[in-house]
Amino acid sequence: MRNQWIKILVGTLILSTALIYQNCGSEHSIDYNIDILRSETKVPSFAELNTNIFQQKCNSCHNLESVANPDNNITTDFSNYQSVYTTSLTPGNPEGSPLFTFVYDNLMPASGELVTEEELALIYAWIAAGAPLEGRDGGGDGEPLDGVQLYQTYCAECHFSFESTDRKGRTFSQIQNAILSNQGNMGNLSFLTSEEIQAIVEALSN
Ligand code: HEC
Ligand code: HEC
Repeated sequence: MRNQWIKILVGTLILSTALIYQNCGSEHSIDYNIDILRSETKVPSFAELNTNIFQQKCNSCHNLESVANPDNNITTDFSNYQSVYTTSLTPGNPEGSPLFTFVYDNLMPASGELVTEEELALIYAWIAAGAPLEGRDGGGDGEPLDGVQLYQTYCAECHFSFESTDRKGRTFSQIQNAILSNQGNMGNLSFLTSEEIQAIVEALSN
Protein backbone atom coordinates (compact mmCIF):
# COMPACT_ATOMS: atom_id res chain seq x y z
CA MET A 1 0.00 0.00 0.00
CA ARG A 2 2.75 2.43 1.06
CA ASN A 3 4.78 1.51 -2.02
CA GLN A 4 1.83 2.27 -4.20
CA TRP A 5 1.51 5.78 -2.77
CA ILE A 6 5.19 6.44 -3.37
CA LYS A 7 4.73 5.28 -6.95
CA ILE A 8 1.77 7.58 -7.40
CA LEU A 9 3.70 10.48 -5.89
CA VAL A 10 6.69 9.91 -8.14
CA GLY A 11 4.39 9.48 -11.12
CA THR A 12 2.65 12.76 -10.33
CA LEU A 13 5.97 14.61 -10.05
CA ILE A 14 7.11 13.28 -13.39
CA LEU A 15 3.80 14.10 -14.93
CA SER A 16 3.80 17.68 -13.69
CA THR A 17 7.35 18.21 -14.96
CA ALA A 18 6.35 16.78 -18.31
CA LEU A 19 3.33 19.05 -18.40
CA ILE A 20 5.19 22.24 -17.52
CA TYR A 21 7.71 21.40 -20.19
CA GLN A 22 4.98 20.73 -22.72
CA ASN A 23 3.07 23.92 -22.04
CA CYS A 24 6.12 25.92 -23.12
CA GLY A 25 5.86 24.45 -26.57
CA SER A 26 3.00 24.49 -29.02
CA GLU A 27 -0.55 23.94 -27.86
CA HIS A 28 -0.90 20.45 -26.43
CA SER A 29 -4.46 20.01 -25.26
CA ILE A 30 -7.95 19.27 -26.52
CA ASP A 31 -11.11 20.55 -24.89
CA TYR A 32 -13.05 17.27 -25.05
CA ASN A 33 -16.85 17.46 -24.91
CA ILE A 34 -18.14 14.92 -22.40
CA ASP A 35 -21.57 14.70 -24.07
CA ILE A 36 -19.99 13.76 -27.39
CA LEU A 37 -17.75 11.24 -25.63
CA ARG A 38 -20.76 9.62 -23.94
CA SER A 39 -22.81 9.43 -27.13
CA GLU A 40 -20.63 6.86 -28.93
CA THR A 41 -22.57 3.59 -29.32
CA LYS A 42 -20.01 1.45 -31.12
CA VAL A 43 -17.95 -0.65 -28.73
CA PRO A 44 -14.52 -1.32 -30.26
CA SER A 45 -12.61 -4.52 -29.63
CA PHE A 46 -9.37 -4.36 -27.65
CA ALA A 47 -7.49 -5.15 -30.88
CA GLU A 48 -8.97 -2.10 -32.62
CA LEU A 49 -8.03 0.23 -29.77
CA ASN A 50 -4.62 -1.33 -29.56
CA THR A 51 -3.83 -1.00 -33.26
CA ASN A 52 -5.38 2.43 -33.82
CA ILE A 53 -4.61 4.24 -30.59
CA PHE A 54 -2.34 2.53 -28.06
CA GLN A 55 0.31 1.40 -30.54
CA GLN A 56 0.31 4.78 -32.28
CA LYS A 57 0.22 7.09 -29.30
CA CYS A 58 1.00 5.26 -26.06
CA ASN A 59 3.20 2.22 -26.51
CA SER A 60 6.36 4.20 -27.21
CA CYS A 61 6.38 4.81 -23.44
CA HIS A 62 3.92 2.30 -22.01
CA ASN A 63 5.52 -1.00 -23.00
CA LEU A 64 6.84 -4.05 -21.16
CA GLU A 65 10.49 -3.17 -21.78
CA SER A 66 10.09 0.26 -20.18
CA VAL A 67 8.28 -1.26 -17.20
CA ALA A 68 11.08 -3.80 -16.73
CA ASN A 69 13.80 -1.14 -16.80
CA PRO A 70 14.09 0.54 -13.38
CA ASP A 71 15.77 3.58 -14.97
CA ASN A 72 12.47 4.38 -16.59
CA ASN A 73 9.63 5.83 -14.63
CA ILE A 74 7.03 3.85 -16.47
CA THR A 75 4.92 1.53 -14.34
CA THR A 76 2.15 0.72 -16.79
CA ASP A 77 2.23 -1.36 -19.94
CA PHE A 78 -0.54 -0.94 -22.52
CA SER A 79 0.59 -3.50 -25.05
CA ASN A 80 -1.78 -6.32 -24.13
CA TYR A 81 -5.33 -6.77 -22.96
CA GLN A 82 -4.54 -8.20 -19.55
CA SER A 83 -2.30 -5.33 -18.47
CA VAL A 84 -4.64 -2.59 -19.71
CA TYR A 85 -7.60 -4.31 -18.11
CA THR A 86 -5.94 -4.90 -14.75
CA THR A 87 -3.92 -1.69 -14.25
CA SER A 88 -5.67 1.34 -15.63
CA LEU A 89 -9.41 0.94 -15.67
CA THR A 90 -12.56 0.04 -13.79
CA PRO A 91 -14.88 -1.90 -16.12
CA GLY A 92 -18.17 -0.07 -16.58
CA ASN A 93 -16.83 3.18 -15.10
CA PRO A 94 -14.90 5.37 -17.57
CA GLU A 95 -15.00 8.41 -15.28
CA GLY A 96 -13.27 6.32 -12.61
CA SER A 97 -10.65 4.93 -14.99
CA PRO A 98 -7.19 6.53 -15.39
CA LEU A 99 -7.09 5.24 -18.97
CA PHE A 100 -9.93 7.65 -19.72
CA THR A 101 -9.38 10.47 -17.21
CA PHE A 102 -5.68 10.97 -17.92
CA VAL A 103 -6.47 11.59 -21.58
CA TYR A 104 -9.61 13.60 -20.86
CA ASP A 105 -7.65 15.85 -18.49
CA ASN A 106 -4.93 16.28 -21.12
CA LEU A 107 -2.29 14.64 -18.93
CA MET A 108 -1.68 11.92 -21.51
CA PRO A 109 -0.10 11.24 -23.95
CA ALA A 110 2.86 12.92 -22.24
CA SER A 111 4.20 13.83 -25.66
CA GLY A 112 3.46 13.12 -29.30
CA GLU A 113 0.22 13.09 -31.21
CA LEU A 114 -2.90 13.79 -29.15
CA VAL A 115 -5.89 11.45 -28.88
CA THR A 116 -8.73 12.82 -31.02
CA GLU A 117 -12.25 13.25 -29.68
CA GLU A 118 -13.47 10.32 -31.83
CA GLU A 119 -10.74 8.09 -30.42
CA LEU A 120 -11.44 9.10 -26.84
CA ALA A 121 -15.17 8.45 -27.43
CA LEU A 122 -14.27 4.88 -28.42
CA ILE A 123 -12.13 4.44 -25.30
CA TYR A 124 -15.06 5.75 -23.24
CA ALA A 125 -17.57 3.40 -24.91
CA TRP A 126 -15.21 0.48 -24.51
CA ILE A 127 -14.69 0.99 -20.76
CA ALA A 128 -18.41 1.72 -20.27
CA ALA A 129 -19.23 -1.61 -21.92
CA GLY A 130 -16.99 -3.43 -19.45
CA ALA A 131 -13.77 -3.29 -21.54
CA PRO A 132 -14.55 -6.48 -23.49
CA LEU A 133 -11.97 -8.25 -25.62
CA GLU A 134 -14.36 -8.36 -28.57
CA GLY A 135 -16.20 -5.32 -29.89
CA ARG A 136 -19.79 -4.60 -30.83
CA ASP A 137 -21.38 -2.47 -33.53
CA GLY A 138 -23.34 0.50 -32.28
CA GLY A 139 -26.92 -0.45 -31.56
CA GLY A 140 -28.41 2.57 -29.84
CA ASP A 141 -30.83 2.24 -26.99
CA GLY A 142 -33.12 -0.58 -28.11
CA GLU A 143 -35.29 -2.79 -25.94
CA PRO A 144 -34.09 -3.74 -22.48
CA LEU A 145 -31.86 -6.81 -22.43
CA ASP A 146 -33.44 -10.17 -21.63
CA GLY A 147 -31.26 -11.68 -18.93
CA VAL A 148 -32.97 -15.07 -19.05
CA GLN A 149 -32.45 -15.29 -22.80
CA LEU A 150 -28.80 -14.24 -22.44
CA TYR A 151 -28.31 -16.88 -19.77
CA GLN A 152 -29.82 -19.59 -21.98
CA THR A 153 -27.59 -18.57 -24.88
CA TYR A 154 -24.29 -18.16 -23.08
CA CYS A 155 -24.39 -20.05 -19.78
CA ALA A 156 -26.89 -22.92 -19.96
CA GLU A 157 -24.61 -25.32 -21.82
CA CYS A 158 -22.43 -25.60 -18.72
CA HIS A 159 -24.56 -24.41 -15.80
CA PHE A 160 -27.87 -26.15 -16.67
CA SER A 161 -30.99 -24.49 -18.05
CA PHE A 162 -32.19 -21.29 -16.39
CA GLU A 163 -34.89 -23.14 -14.40
CA SER A 164 -32.39 -25.50 -12.80
CA THR A 165 -29.27 -23.30 -12.80
CA ASP A 166 -26.58 -23.92 -10.20
CA ARG A 167 -25.52 -20.22 -10.28
CA LYS A 168 -28.39 -18.42 -8.57
CA GLY A 169 -27.52 -15.15 -6.82
CA ARG A 170 -24.11 -14.67 -8.42
CA THR A 171 -22.84 -11.08 -8.42
CA PHE A 172 -21.49 -9.01 -11.31
CA SER A 173 -17.92 -9.34 -10.10
CA GLN A 174 -18.17 -13.10 -9.52
CA ILE A 175 -19.21 -13.55 -13.14
CA GLN A 176 -16.71 -11.01 -14.47
CA ASN A 177 -13.89 -12.64 -12.48
CA ALA A 178 -14.85 -16.11 -13.71
CA ILE A 179 -14.63 -14.80 -17.29
CA LEU A 180 -11.38 -12.94 -16.71
CA SER A 181 -9.68 -15.87 -15.03
CA ASN A 182 -11.00 -18.17 -17.76
CA GLN A 183 -12.68 -20.62 -15.39
CA GLY A 184 -13.95 -23.58 -17.41
CA ASN A 185 -13.06 -21.71 -20.63
CA MET A 186 -15.39 -18.88 -19.70
CA GLY A 187 -12.76 -16.52 -21.15
CA ASN A 188 -14.55 -17.09 -24.46
CA LEU A 189 -17.35 -14.96 -23.04
CA SER A 190 -15.25 -11.81 -22.65
CA PHE A 191 -17.23 -10.20 -25.47
CA LEU A 192 -20.24 -9.86 -23.15
CA THR A 193 -20.84 -6.20 -22.29
CA SER A 194 -21.30 -5.05 -18.71
CA GLU A 195 -24.97 -4.33 -19.54
CA GLU A 196 -25.42 -7.95 -20.64
CA ILE A 197 -23.70 -9.34 -17.57
CA GLN A 198 -25.81 -7.03 -15.41
CA ALA A 199 -28.98 -8.36 -17.09
CA ILE A 200 -27.88 -11.94 -16.33
CA VAL A 201 -27.10 -10.96 -12.70
CA GLU A 202 -30.62 -9.54 -12.35
CA ALA A 203 -32.22 -12.64 -13.88
CA LEU A 204 -30.22 -14.88 -11.53
CA SER A 205 -31.24 -12.84 -8.48
CA ASN A 206 -34.95 -13.61 -8.90
C1 HEC B 1 6.24 10.20 -23.77
C2 HEC B 1 5.88 9.09 -22.91
C3 HEC B 1 4.41 8.76 -22.72
C4 HEC B 1 3.44 8.59 -23.69
C5 HEC B 1 3.59 8.67 -25.20
C6 HEC B 1 2.23 8.24 -22.98
N1 HEC B 1 2.46 8.19 -21.64
FE1 HEC B 1 1.09 7.77 -20.18
N2 HEC B 1 2.51 8.02 -18.71
C7 HEC B 1 3.83 8.36 -18.95
C8 HEC B 1 4.52 8.45 -17.67
C9 HEC B 1 6.00 8.77 -17.48
C10 HEC B 1 3.56 8.16 -16.67
C11 HEC B 1 3.76 8.09 -15.13
C12 HEC B 1 4.36 6.74 -14.75
C13 HEC B 1 3.43 5.57 -14.96
O1 HEC B 1 2.40 5.50 -14.28
O2 HEC B 1 3.71 4.70 -15.81
C14 HEC B 1 2.31 7.90 -17.35
C15 HEC B 1 1.13 7.57 -16.73
C16 HEC B 1 -0.05 7.25 -17.37
C17 HEC B 1 -1.26 6.82 -16.72
C18 HEC B 1 -1.45 6.64 -15.25
C19 HEC B 1 -0.99 5.28 -14.87
C20 HEC B 1 -1.95 4.57 -13.98
O3 HEC B 1 -1.74 4.64 -12.77
O4 HEC B 1 -2.89 3.94 -14.48
C21 HEC B 1 -2.19 6.59 -17.70
C22 HEC B 1 -3.61 6.10 -17.50
C23 HEC B 1 -1.56 6.89 -18.95
N3 HEC B 1 -0.26 7.28 -18.73
C24 HEC B 1 -2.20 6.81 -20.17
C25 HEC B 1 -1.60 7.04 -21.39
C26 HEC B 1 -2.28 6.87 -22.67
C27 HEC B 1 -3.71 6.41 -22.82
C28 HEC B 1 -1.38 7.21 -23.62
C29 HEC B 1 -1.60 7.23 -25.11
C30 HEC B 1 -2.76 7.93 -25.59
C31 HEC B 1 -0.13 7.57 -22.96
N4 HEC B 1 -0.31 7.44 -21.60
C32 HEC B 1 1.02 7.97 -23.60
C33 HEC B 1 4.42 8.58 -20.19
C34 HEC B 1 3.78 8.52 -21.42
C1 HEC C 1 -18.02 -23.76 -21.29
C2 HEC C 1 -18.63 -23.94 -20.00
C3 HEC C 1 -19.10 -22.72 -19.25
C4 HEC C 1 -19.87 -21.66 -19.72
C5 HEC C 1 -20.42 -21.46 -21.11
C6 HEC C 1 -20.07 -20.79 -18.58
N1 HEC C 1 -19.43 -21.29 -17.49
FE1 HEC C 1 -19.36 -20.42 -15.66
N2 HEC C 1 -18.03 -21.83 -15.04
C7 HEC C 1 -17.68 -22.96 -15.74
C8 HEC C 1 -16.76 -23.75 -14.94
C9 HEC C 1 -16.16 -25.12 -15.33
C10 HEC C 1 -16.52 -23.00 -13.76
C11 HEC C 1 -15.57 -23.36 -12.60
C12 HEC C 1 -16.06 -24.53 -11.76
C13 HEC C 1 -17.36 -24.24 -11.10
O1 HEC C 1 -17.50 -23.21 -10.41
O2 HEC C 1 -18.29 -25.01 -11.31
C14 HEC C 1 -17.34 -21.80 -13.87
C15 HEC C 1 -17.41 -20.83 -12.89
C16 HEC C 1 -18.34 -19.82 -12.87
C17 HEC C 1 -18.48 -18.86 -11.80
C18 HEC C 1 -17.54 -18.72 -10.59
C19 HEC C 1 -17.85 -19.69 -9.50
C20 HEC C 1 -19.16 -19.33 -8.84
O3 HEC C 1 -20.09 -20.11 -8.98
O4 HEC C 1 -19.27 -18.24 -8.22
C21 HEC C 1 -19.56 -18.08 -12.11
C22 HEC C 1 -20.12 -16.94 -11.28
C23 HEC C 1 -20.07 -18.54 -13.39
N3 HEC C 1 -19.30 -19.58 -13.82
C24 HEC C 1 -21.16 -18.01 -14.06
C25 HEC C 1 -21.38 -18.19 -15.42
C26 HEC C 1 -22.30 -17.40 -16.20
C27 HEC C 1 -23.21 -16.31 -15.67
C28 HEC C 1 -22.19 -17.84 -17.50
C29 HEC C 1 -22.85 -17.26 -18.72
C30 HEC C 1 -22.58 -15.86 -18.98
C31 HEC C 1 -21.21 -18.90 -17.50
N4 HEC C 1 -20.75 -19.09 -16.24
C32 HEC C 1 -20.84 -19.63 -18.63
C33 HEC C 1 -18.13 -23.31 -17.01
C34 HEC C 1 -18.84 -22.47 -17.84
